[in-house]
Amino acid sequence: SRTQVGIVGAGPAGLVLAKLLALAGVDSVVLEARDRAYVEARVRAGVLEAPTVELLRGMGVAGRLDREGMPHTGISLRFAEAPGAPAADHRIDFADLVGTGITVYGQQEVVKDLLADRVDDAGLPVEFGVSGVALHDVDTDAPSVTYADADGAEHVLRCDVIAGCDGFHGVSRPLVAPDIAERVYPFSWLGVLAKAAPTTDELVYAHHDDGFALYSMRSPEVTRLYVQVPNDTDPADWSDARIWDALHTRLACEGFTMNEGEFLEKPSVTPMRSMVASPMRRGRLFLAGDAAHIVPPTGAKGMNLAIADVRVLADAVVRALRDGDTGGLDSYSDTCLRRVWRAEHFSWFMTSMLHRFDPATEGGDAFGVGLQRSQLRYSVTSRAAATSLAENYVGLPHGAV
Ligand code: FAD
Ligand code: DHB
Repeated sequence: SRTQVGIVGAGPAGLVLAKLLALAGVDSVVLEARDRAYVEARVRAGVLEAPTVELLRGMGVAGRLDREGMPHTGISLRFAEAPGAPAADHRIDFADLVGTGITVYGQQEVVKDLLADRVDDAGLPVEFGVSGVALHDVDTDAPSVTYADADGAEHVLRCDVIAGCDGFHGVSRPLVAPDIAERVYPFSWLGVLAKAAPTTDELVYAHHDDGFALYSMRSPEVTRLYVQVPNDTDPADWSDARIWDALHTRLACEGFTMNEGEFLEKPSVTPMRSMVASPMRRGRLFLAGDAAHIVPPTGAKGMNLAIADVRVLADAVVRALRDGDTGGLDSYSDTCLRRVWRAEHFSWFMTSMLHRFDPATEGGDAFGVGLQRSQLRYSVTSRAAATSLAENYVGLPHGAV
């Protein structure tokens, strides 16, 4: 079979790209390794930047997001003024500082909305459960994708352009063979979803001597929580009681109480890394989202960056296929990498400022801790520093970087 754009991966990048192309009258086929129930249930990110929300609204897929998403106009950084002192909250007021905010809405809800729109309403193709995906002839103007469908039947999909939206472990990046800039952090996050009403209106990022903790939410009934753990942590070593104990200790603060509740899924451990692949292109193959770059989750940027990439890609592909102008495709990688590196820096900054590093290493020795403390204080006492944090967190306008 034949389509204009072959899209590998039905995550936020692949599905937003498919919708933007459909709106411009460009055909695509989305190939996804997992089944629909799996991608709709996969709990991951939860923070949508302001430009992401505006884009989804402009695409006409934000009905439920506008009803159920939780608009937030700030976050709190929670830390003690000195080792052993009681912690206090320091609010970063996005509305005051930069005139906008974020929306808390689960990534899998975005994915559900996009699949309902494409598959159920528009009847456009997403092939779930494919295997053996291989990309061919990407250096020519007639690339193709071969794969086996869920029943094992082999297919060849010929296209004009291939979008590698297949995440960190996909098949696209190895084929591009880009240069890799990378940093692996000496800690991971253990994440849980609890049937417990959140007790704050906003997210709390806590810096504590035992390690970082994050208090987030998904709805008025569900809390999303993370604690810093060593790399290679086996979640089986963390009983529910141990997780709650760590959360209570690290989030302790005058006037703060936390509701406990049953965990709605098994605790997961996410390693923390930064990675940038460049260029994000080889011939007719274009990488987008986690296939091209990874950020540590502390800046809440992963899904937002994936969506920003495919906005640029959709415009470039439409220009090329409709007007025969390949300028957008030629500048795609450079354009995306400017925003990618801004998000990489911000995510590294938040990660370095908020986590506890091993005292035997540079990050965690007396000098390292002194720098962290100074940066925390500066971030919440200087309007200039708070504004910089706020503008990055809510997301710079698309095209502004
Ligand atoms: P993905 O969402 O990974 O989508 C890629 C899709 O491609 C998947 O559906 C996959 O099944 C499919 N695929 C892979 N290989 C193939 C193949 N060969 N053929 C066909 N399909 C294929 N960000 C945060 O901000 N906060 C968080 O708490 C957070 N937690 C995370 C936890 C985990 C375990 C992971 C992996 C990521 C997390 N992220 C988080 C990052 C954020 O979720 C990602 O940045 C975001 O999912 C990127 O979207 P994407 O569409 O590029 O990739
Ligand atoms: C969530 C995840 C993040 O990585 C983050 O920085 C903030 C919130 C969340 O899952 O709610």
